Amino acid sequence: MTRWRAVQADITTLAVDAVVNAANSSLLGGGGVDGAIHRAAGPGLLEECRTLGGCPVGEARLTRGYALPARFVIHTVGPVWRGGTSGEAVKLAACYKSSLGVAEAHGLRTIAFPAISTGVYGYPVKRAAPIAAEAVAETLRQHPAFFSEILFIGFSATDCATYATAIEAAGSASRR
Ligand code: APR
Repeated sequence: MTRWRAVQADITTLAVDAVVNAANSSLLGGGGVDGAIHRAAGPGLLEECRTLGGCPVGEARLTRGYALPARFVIHTVGPVWRGGTSGEAVKLAACYKSSLGVAEAHGLRTIAFPAISTGVYGYPVKRAAPIAAEAVAETLRQHPAFFSEILFIGFSATDCATYATAIEAAGSASRR
């Protein structure tokens, strides 16, 4: 049975199989959690990212974690919030599903997600959290025994509480 919960933390400090990076399509670094992960991982991460040729919105790519305590980084590119009528919800859900797909393909069982798209990309957290939780719930229903722990990392206590509420709602729905 997979444990999945919200935790307030700096994702760069987590010793998990993979942290997920909220990147941009170039995969060449940026601000926010992307900047934090690259700073903590060191220059080797950018060197490997340069070999990947970018990543479309909603997809995910794997690299090593370098100086991070996490073994790997799964880079995904979230949608920019444009008001909710440009397919943002589907694209955001795809980030979580693609990232878990990459994790499973490489035998990575403990995963930590940041609040994808809710910073620079402007996705309202209260809209993003239920999409994230339901996307993970759907993946866990399809692959109930693979993952051991999935963490939703809130950088702020408020964000953490929002994701915890969304996880509770999605979890109880999938137990019906
Ligand atoms: N640990 C955990 N979460 C963090 C950290 C951290 N060290 N730093 C920032 N966050 C949180 C933010 O508070 C926000 O809730 O990550 C969430 C995602 O915000 P962004 O990092 O801005 O990511 P996003 O909104 O997806 O925008 C991506 O920003 O940094 C650039 O290169 C990136 O262009 C891309 C865009």
